[in-house]
Amino acid sequence: MTMIFGLAVLTFFASIAVYVSASTIQAGASCSTTRDHLDPNTHKFVSDCSDTAYCSGSSNGTCVPRKCRRDIFPFGYSFLDEIPPLCPAGTFCPDEGDGCRAQGTVGDACQMNRDEQCARAANWQDFAGDGNSYGSICLNSACMFANATLGSPCVIDNTTYRFDDTSTLTVVRDNCRSPQYYCGQKDCEQSKAVGSSCSIDQECEQRNCVSGTCSEPPETPLRVTTAQYVITATCIIGAMVSIGSLMTLIHKRHRLKRYRELRDYYQEQLRYVM
Ligand SMILES: *[C@@H]1O[C@H](CO)[C@@H](O)[C@H](O)[C@H]1NC(C)=O
Ligand SMILES: *[C@@H]1O[C@H](CO)[C@@H](O)[C@H](O)[C@H]1NC(C)=O
Ligand SMILES: *[C@@H]1O[C@H](CO)[C@@H](O)[C@H](O)[C@H]1NC(C)=O
Repeated sequence: MTMIFGLAVLTFFASIAVYVSASTIQAGASCSTTRDHLDPNTHKFVSDCSDTAYCSGSSNGTCVPRKCRRDIFPFGYSFLDEIPPLCPAGTFCPDEGDGCRAQGTVGDACQMNRDEQCARAANWQDFAGDGNSYGSICLNSACMFANATLGSPCVIDNTTYRFDDTSTLTVVRDNCRSPQYYCGQKDCEQSKAVGSSCSIDQECEQRNCVSGTCSEPPETPLRVTTAQYVITATCIIGAMVSIGSLMTLIHKRHRLKRYRELRDYYQEQLRYVM
């Protein structure tokens, strides 16, 4: 028993040691930013340094701990690590994590799919949606507003993610106002309602095309209609009423049977007396 306990404690400390070494292994090592790139399959940012460090220079650089993070729960940190801060409004944390920078305006460069690197428009409320960051969008590494209207020319960003040799995911994004429009061949077109035929997700208002038909996305909450409520309530009440009447009926039968028994008994008794 003691041995098992000791082993468990040892395993616990060993796993902490692994966590610590995994996240700090590269800090202090020499590096070069010339090798920074996106993984060709997953499009994840890759540098000489680990996920918790960035490279300080293009040559003779050293990996130093990151100065900022872009996600609330950043990748690569363990629960023991001190995580760097998020960036204040109007700034963003680049993939490198080497410090907050000011957001770009329309036409400025941005890192792949990092919509938050682009500043909002004054009237961002008019076209902000699920597929962009406060109405700004980063397509083909350039900032723009997602406010192109019906019939106006638009930009498509078509990215394929490869997870292994067999599974791929193609994500098509555009700068048309969503969800009412999508970028067709060259211009923004009207998105299709649930039930219409489609060939890619983007064509549908719900951005979900399943075997050629626009469908509700899987995360859609189940909506119970009034008719379904009425049917359910009727069924429950019906079941309660039938159980009640069945029990009353059974009870009545029992009483009848008992009554007949007693009547027969008395008649039997009286017969002998007379
Ligand atoms: C890199 O460091 C080496 C050795 O410290 C030095 O000789 C070389 O000039 C440095 N290169 C640059 C580009 O600073
Ligand atoms: C998009 O919004 C910006 C900023 O409000 C505006 O300057 C631009 O004209 C708009 N574009 C379209 C196509 O509405
Ligand atoms: C995206 O790219 C893939 C592969 O190159 C292509 O088959 C597909 O038609 C493209 N989709 C759009 C909407 O351009």
